[in-house]
Amino acid sequence: MDDSTLEITIIPNGPARIKCTKAKITLANGLVVTKEKPFSLCRCGKSDDKPFCDGSHTPCGFKG
Ligand code: FES
Repeated sequence: MDDSTLEITIIPNGPARIKCTKAKITLANGLVVTKEKPFSLCRCGKSDDKPFCDGSHTPCGFKG
């Protein structure tokens, strides 16, 4: 993966894994978060740290 490639992998029954060298994410409340390492976005809707995955997809039995 070169520096300009954004790689998104959908984890079965889990989050969307984002790989990039740097990401700027604007949250629903307007706060801007910068990520410089791979991170995961919640797909199950149960995370207490939305939009990021906090592992809640496992105990809630998310399928997708
Ligand atoms: S996908 Fe992991 S907490 Fe929702």
